Amino acid sequence: MGFFYTQNLTKFAQIKNYTIMMKMLHSYWAYLAVLLLIIATVNAIIGLTQNKEFKEKDLRISLFTLIIMHIQLLIGLGWYFMSPAYKALKESGMGATMKDSASRLLAVEHPLMMILAIVFITIGWSKHKKQTTDNGKFKTITIFYGIALLFVLSRIPWQQWLG
Ligand code: HEM
Repeated sequence: MGFFYTQNLTKFAQIKNYTIMMKMLHSYWAYLAVLLLIIATVNAIIGLTQNKEFKEKDLRISLFTLIIMHIQLLIGLGWYFMSPAYKALKESGMGATMKDSASRLLAVEHPLMMILAIVFITIGWSKHKKQTTDNGKFKTITIFYGIALLFVLSRIPWQQWLG
């Protein structure tokens, strides 16, 4: 009896630890993701407006942002199904979740808009490669990464993150 109790308790503690780890990973990786997306977008805007040459450095910044965002997507997907937001959605149903703006943000709007942002970044990255001019490359990155940045900034749960 005591053995089973201890085993269950350990299992419970492990699940709790995984949950905390995933939450922290998602939360800290987000600093890197948001920062890089800002840097890549600003870099593209500067390149576009100052008619700069699209150099190796510009390619690296855009590619690194793409990779970091894709990793955040994977962490986000893993975290979603362990999160209290998803648990609440399962328990109270889609109707009730959509009626409450705080639950709607965490369980529906944030995940969907972040996925959409990453879709835009991926399209932008592959479209920029087909551009033949430096200006065209900077323009493509500016538009697609810029839209992605707006999506990200509009649907981050700021209060929960920094508050
Ligand atoms: C660019 C991609 C993403 C960024 C920058 C991002 C950023 C964040 C931030 C800053 C938070 C608040 C963290 C905290 O409270 O400390 C958060 C929470 C959350 N994110 Fe993301 N995220 C991204 C993608 C995703 C994706 C793709 C999913 C799911 C498919 C997801 C699911 C969640 C959930 C469920 C929460 C809140 C859970 C809760 O506290 O109940 N995220 N995210």
